[in-house]
Amino acid sequence: MAKVLVTGGLGYIGSHTVVTLLQQNFEVVIVDDLSNSQASVLDRVEQISGQRPPFYQLNLCDESAVEQMFDKEPGIDSIIHFAASKAVGESVAKPLLYYKNNLLSLIHLLEQMNQRGITDFVFSSSCTVYGQPDKLPVTEQSPMKPAESPYGNTKQVGEQILQDACRAYPSLQVIALRYFNPVGAHESALIGELPTGVPNNLVPFITQTAAGLRPQLKVFGQDYDTPDGTAVRDYIHVVDLAEAHEIALRRLMNDKQKENFEFFNIGTGEGHSVLEVVKTFEKVNDLSLNYELADRRPGDVEQVYADTHYANTELGWKATRNLEEMLTSAWKWQKRISQ
Ligand code: UFG
Repeated sequence: MAKVLVTGGLGYIGSHTVVTLLQQNFEVVIVDDLSNSQASVLDRVEQISGQRPPFYQLNLCDESAVEQMFDKEPGIDSIIHFAASKAVGESVAKPLLYYKNNLLSLIHLLEQMNQRGITDFVFSSSCTVYGQPDKLPVTEQSPMKPAESPYGNTKQVGEQILQDACRAYPSLQVIALRYFNPVGAHESALIGELPTGVPNNLVPFITQTAAGLRPQLKVFGQDYDTPDGTAVRDYIHVVDLAEAHEIALRRLMNDKQKENFEFFNIGTGEGHSVLEVVKTFEKVNDLSLNYELADRRPGDVEQVYADTHYANTELGWKATRNLEEMLTSAWKWQKRISQ
């Protein structure tokens, strides 16, 4: 049984991936500093999977804590690295915190891998590395654009560090997954997204508005060059995303890589506008949402959606859950946590 370290394993995408891995009989070790997650998520993971993986509460910037954790958990074969700060706006206000949290943690993990002969690594990257692509849908060959924020830059630099490390250490095997917009929750509604404070992202804002926690949703931008004037994104169900990590891990374990640094777009390949998301949410959950059209949000791109051909054919992964399923599961989760 392969032993996988999942950093940020109690966070939104991390917890769904931990559940998928446990259900597929991987042995899992979780590291999380609880800066944007809660210890109780471990109870939920156990409730769903019947297993309670060992959990270490630590920040990966703390080098000696990282070293001690690896000492206590011999035999780790691979790492899925989610732990990172991810709020775009906060990263503009606190760039040093973002560079430290997102890059120092990565370097500490890579150093430990080198010292201990661990070879397999899956990295959480983002479609943010493409900025506003010149051509849509965006393929893996699209050039990276200068990052819009320190957060986005940490993903670009993170990939660069991994690419350089793969060149220098040929035994290292890395897959970066470039997520589009993860939404939705596990069908049990026991785990899901737990935003702290006012949500920045669309779907948590929608569900909190529907739950009466926010008075009104603002639809940012109504004059984009899109069919209904609102911005277009590629929303991906978090459970599909979790499954992409398991498949990436198996690719590394089975030595199937074409090169030792690979990257894949993880989206559905379909673009949906903000208004389409709002209307689908209303329809599938049979409710009406209080929203108004508002000005554009600074820094937003007009539209981005994935060409998933390479992920489908080469990685052997394809999203199977549609927007309706994303939005029913998101609402079921919101109802459970706001009870
Ligand atoms: N939106 C609204 N109202 C809201 C929140 C969002 O209209 O209250 C709109 C946004 O303006 C955007 C769309 O909904 O057009 C999606 O916004 P999100 O914030 O949900 O997602 P983004 O595409 O902006 O963010 C994603 C990832 C980030 C990443 C970013 C890079 O979630 O991790 O892309 O641009 F950094």
